[in-house]
Amino acid sequence: MDNARIAVMVGPKGRGSNMLALIRAGKEGRMPACVEVVIAPTHSAPAVQTAQDEKVRVAIVEPGDDYGARLLDAMEGCRYVCLAGFLRLLPEEVLRAFPDRVLNIHPALLPDFGGKGMYGARVHEAVIAAGAKESGCTVHLVNERYDDGRILLQKRLEVAPDDTPESLAARVLELEHQAYPEALTKLTRE
Ligand code: GAR
Repeated sequence: MDNARIAVMVGPKGRGSNMLALIRAGKEGRMPACVEVVIAPTHSAPAVQTAQDEKVRVAIVEPGDDYGARLLDAMEGCRYVCLAGFLRLLPEEVLRAFPDRVLNIHPALLPDFGGKGMYGARVHEAVIAAGAKESGCTVHLVNERYDDGRILLQKRLEVAPDDTPESLAARVLELEHQAYPEALTKLTRE
């Protein structure tokens, strides 16, 4: 059987490192799925250039009228949708079209340190401010609320006493790049 196809969605400032980790894992046969299309809201998202360098199709879909229908067009033929630095709630029709097949990665151990507005450096600042002994990343299914769907996989690390938000973010990001392909693999086997 052909590998399942993935649509990866990035945000306007998307650096695209998780997108790249998924592209590479697919190409190298480390997961039974491959990235078919990268969907970005604007050409200027840094991830767009990276996707093009990797010879992956890019679709620019700007939020606005018929956003859901235009996303579904771009996702045609895909089985999974992976959010990678995409920070909005998805239109309902996309969630309906991909039941239990939309994933997100979050740079902390949900259900803690998640929710609206919790992304990037803010997450790591909150982890350190709370004096948490461990952090990590979570891959979860996406529903109509922020960071709320069923958890597929978590990877953990210890927060060091001298960790800064930047040092913690860098170590968590390394875990994210392993976790996303692993979680996708796990989901394909359910
Ligand atoms: C990642 O750290 C991801 O966990 C986070 O955005 C970053 C995107 O980086 N997502 C969230 O915080 C979602 N709440 P990337 O563009 O290099 O993959």
